[in-house]
Amino acid sequence: MSRTGIEPKPAWLTLPEQIRMATGEALGAPVVRAARVWGGYSPTPTYRLLLANGRKAFFKAVGPADNEFARAAHAREERVYRELADLIAPWAPELLGSFENGPWRVILLEDLGPKSAPPWSPGLAGQVSRSLGDFHVATLGVSLPDWLPRPDQHLLTDARLWRWADDPQALQNVASLAGAESADAMRWLREAAPSLVSASNSLRDAGGPVALAHRDVRSDNLRWVGGRLRLFDWPHVGVGPAEDDAAMFAQSVTAEGGPDPDTVMEWYGERAPLRPKILVGALASIAGFFADQAWRPEAPGLPRLRAFQRRQLWVTLNWASQRLHLPEPEWLDAVISYAPPRT
Ligand SMILES: Nc1ncnc2c1ncn2[C@@H]1O[C@H](COP(=O)(O)OP(=O)(O)OP(=O)(O)O)[C@@H](O)[C@H]1O
Ligand SMILES: [Mg+2]
Repeated sequence: MSRTGIEPKPAWLTLPEQIRMATGEALGAPVVRAARVWGGYSPTPTYRLLLANGRKAFFKAVGPADNEFARAAHAREERVYRELADLIAPWAPELLGSFENGPWRVILLEDLGPKSAPPWSPGLAGQVSRSLGDFHVATLGVSLPDWLPRPDQHLLTDARLWRWADDPQALQNVASLAGAESADAMRWLREAAPSLVSASNSLRDAGGPVALAHRDVRSDNLRWVGGRLRLFDWPHVGVGPAEDDAAMFAQSVTAEGGPDPDTVMEWYGERAPLRPKILVGALASIAGFFADQAWRPEAPGLPRLRAFQRRQLWVTLNWASQRLHLPEPEWLDAVISYAPPRT
């Protein structure tokens, strides 16, 4: 496969031979070809495999180079594939196997083929959005395991609730993304912050029903195959208001050049209930998250993340401003052309 990302993903042949052999053993036939897969924003070693028996599989691992954060995420994802198999089966790839070997921990999945999006045609965005509604409806109000994070742990966080905005320096960090327009940005942020804080905090009273939330639904974590939505990359799964999961997806479609977020939500709403107040709270809080992240220095190994977060900030803050009847944040256009200082 030609290289489609710039993240430092290792070539298959640089993996220890015992890991490559153990992969073939777990899958019942040796690996004859392995193509690195770039998709999201991280350097995770991921490969599409062709086996000697003609079958295919997908390989995802953590190894000696990975930090505790990545190792914990991998362990959580494996648990999701094992313990939530019944709940996620219609939407997730089949788990074909997993093994541990020294510092390596490997998950082997059904291969779901190449990326479906972007580009996001309206037809494709509509189909995926409606199917995401079906995914949420399937667990809406259903009793879900206690070990899954609840909104207190993943939604009602300082970043999401704009708590960081109490610090004038933190607001200045966001405003500085607007370059020459940073003074306008600072004025806008100071005036708008109370509305954004209040809308986000309304999520505290969201109440039920809640659903299983994937919490990372984005083009790099999904496929549209055979008329069905398939979701993978499950380490962040939790329990929460479905509108939040849907809004996170909707803004990502727009940030990738697809239809606007309200249109995506309309398609989603054809299949799943939408509570307007919770939706507004969700999108204000998602804007808070990207505002808290987008100005930060590039994280090691994730060279494209901040630029994408700046586009997501553009989408979500414009979207929240419309819904909350705030003045238009014209300074956001400058954020898209922001060039980070060279380090
Ligand atoms: N079952 C699968 N079949 C085919 N391709 C897959 C499958 N699972 C993941 N992929 C592809 O591999 C990429 C990486 O997998 P995944 O999203 O699970 O890991 P990640 O840690 O998020 O890495 P990245 O940030 O590179 O996406 C995905 O973005 C997707 O393009
Ligand atoms: Mg991913």
